[in-house]
Amino acid sequence: MPVNEKPVSKPDILFISGSPRNRTSVALLDLLERAARSAGANTQRFLLSKKNILPCTGCDGCMKTGICILANKTKNGRFIDDYLELKASLDRVDAVAIVSPLYFAGPPAQLKALYDRFQPYWVKNYILGEKSQPKRPAQLFMLGGYSDPHGHEPLVTISKSALAVAGFNLEKINNFIGFKDPREVPNMPAEDDFEQYTPGQLAGIRKIITQQKAYEQRARDAGGAFARSVINKLHAKNSEDDNHVDVDEESVELVIEEAGLTEEITEDIVPDETTPEADDMGLETIEDVDEKA
Ligand SMILES: Cc1cc2nc3c(=O)[nH]c(=O)nc-3n(C[C@H](O)[C@H](O)[C@H](O)COP(=O)(O)O)c2cc1C
Repeated sequence: MPVNEKPVSKPDILFISGSPRNRTSVALLDLLERAARSAGANTQRFLLSKKNILPCTGCDGCMKTGICILANKTKNGRFIDDYLELKASLDRVDAVAIVSPLYFAGPPAQLKALYDRFQPYWVKNYILGEKSQPKRPAQLFMLGGYSDPHGHEPLVTISKSALAVAGFNLEKINNFIGFKDPREVPNMPAEDDFEQYTPGQLAGIRKIITQQKAYEQRARDAGGAFARSVINKLHAKNSEDDNHVDVDEESVELVIEEAGLTEEITEDIVPDETTPEADDMGLETIEDVDEKA
């Protein structure tokens, strides 16, 4: 590490599962998160199979304040949903990973509801004119049962749009369509039981197991690579900050003084009496214009 670079504390990465179920997306998220931790990141998770985010009602209550009206509503002394917990994490972390199944080429309703509750960020950026911070990195990890003939662009575009408003740049789309919930992957039958299967069936089971192993290795690689890319970005930002010297008036004057430049400069600034005025050069002055008017 270059001498002037401060050690980068572990980046915080938030992993969000967009599925209403605790199945395939959460299994993939487990692999990604574990690999990110091994690569040196702190991680936390927000699972829509366990958390509740109510849909935005379009009440425009946030238009004046940039604060969601729903978020502060309570019932029996408890907030009516987990929005404030989500927002606290989103505002604090260095990066976010969205792990989501495809539902008809787009996000499940629960993830779309989460994205829609980003409206207060939009208000802050575009209505209240709050200065937005440099965008932090985000990646999308898509799952699906089959390659939908209608593709998956809607999930990508909606995620990109919502994350951008919340301060994240969707940098990479990871396609894990075909990744299975490990509980759905058949075990290879014992050799003694082979006669109970056709060769085709055995080949099929082998293929599913091999494919799943490859997906799982890809997930570990992707989780580690994401964490390392966030760490590298923080390193780069750190050294940029280190090299950036805040120039304040006082130090400029100090430099000038030390260089003994004081006299010379002031001299130059005082207009030379001989500099011809506009009048002398026959140029029309504002007074002339007025006079003519
Ligand atoms: C309502 C619904 C719509 C779906 N639409 C698609 C789709 O458009 N493309 C696709 O590949 N899979 C589709 N699937 C399959 C899921 O994406 C897939 O089963 C995924 O692994 C589920 O993830 P989960 O177990 O984390 O919920 C759909 C599933 C449901 C329930």
